[in-house]
Amino acid sequence: MRHAGIVGVGMYVPPGTLTNRDLERMVDTSDEWIRQRTGIEERHIADPEVGSSDLAVQAAKAALADAGCGTEDLDLILVATTTPDQPFPTTAVMVQKGLEAWRAGAVDVGATCSGFIYGLSLAGALIEAGRMERVLVIGAETLSRLTNWEDRSTCVLFGDGAGAVVVQAVSEGGLRAFELGADGRGTEFLNAWVGGFKRPVTADLLDSPNRFINMTGREVFKFAVRTMEESVRRVADRAWGSLEMDLLVPHQANARIIEAVGQRLGVADKALINIQRYGNTSAASIPIALTEAKASGRLRPGMRVVLTGFGGGFTYAGAALEWV
Ligand code: UT7
Repeated sequence: MRHAGIVGVGMYVPPGTLTNRDLERMVDTSDEWIRQRTGIEERHIADPEVGSSDLAVQAAKAALADAGCGTEDLDLILVATTTPDQPFPTTAVMVQKGLEAWRAGAVDVGATCSGFIYGLSLAGALIEAGRMERVLVIGAETLSRLTNWEDRSTCVLFGDGAGAVVVQAVSEGGLRAFELGADGRGTEFLNAWVGGFKRPVTADLLDSPNRFINMTGREVFKFAVRTMEESVRRVADRAWGSLEMDLLVPHQANARIIEAVGQRLGVADKALINIQRYGNTSAASIPIALTEAKASGRLRPGMRVVLTGFGGGFTYAGAALEWV
């Protein structure tokens, strides 16, 4: 069987940062509360004219350079995002334009924070089936636009950024197992109800908190810990018949969630945490973490890596792979 693997990684975050101290001046919160409850110290915020596709293009260029391939080599661009530039054209098409990758198809994947793993799974399947040779998978978000800056329970959490990977056929290692899941019973706990086409932003809804992220933090926390633990067990078992892994790369939503999952699985020392610098960048958090792990030497060829994510919906997803 033909195997697909990640052969290049890249990331980009906008230069502007928002620290916990800055947030202390905006809402009733404290640096201490944010660090203790979430692990976050600062996050990056895009300038008003910058969209998710702009961040995605920069991350994509870095991933292509890392893979040593050009834009003309791409068959498909897959962008996982919860914050598309506009209703249409899709963010993926804006990225195709930005990269001048004229040969590539382009499609968005909407699965909130699990979107990157969903996209990686689709890319892997297309390559393994022999339908495509090279796919760019990007997670890109400008969540600062979907954030209610008057709601202290959510505005301290999120940040903007993008991460990208290049996927192609590989002779050794590569993608081994996936799980893509959803639980629609969770819609009430994490959502933004206004701003689509069922409930457009009308004058009377302009100031509605439902235009922004609404979250029941405790419920999301419980779902995240339980689901990620179970999902990691299943994908690792399917791939290798054991939980032995070299690196666990979880969606970065809260350091306490990651620590709890790591402890339950007995792999706390293998779990990557970089939320302190970026906050929760939704679909971008896993490819950003992969890029940092590779750059720091924490990710090396042959390593067993498990990706795990969850998000609004609820959605969840896991992947087991051997680093190429
Ligand atoms: O990508 C997925 C997106 N979301 C998540 O993964 C979020 C998952 N949930 C969480 O990470 C946590 O639930 C939070 C970080 C959101 C909240 O932490 P918590 O330990 O669950 O706190 P809580 O919601 O139970 O609130 C505890 C207290 C409350 O005050 P009272 O009722 O005890 O007086 C809140 O009002 O902390 C208060 N609080 C804050 N205080 C200072 C909530 N937000 C803040 C804040 N600063 N920013």
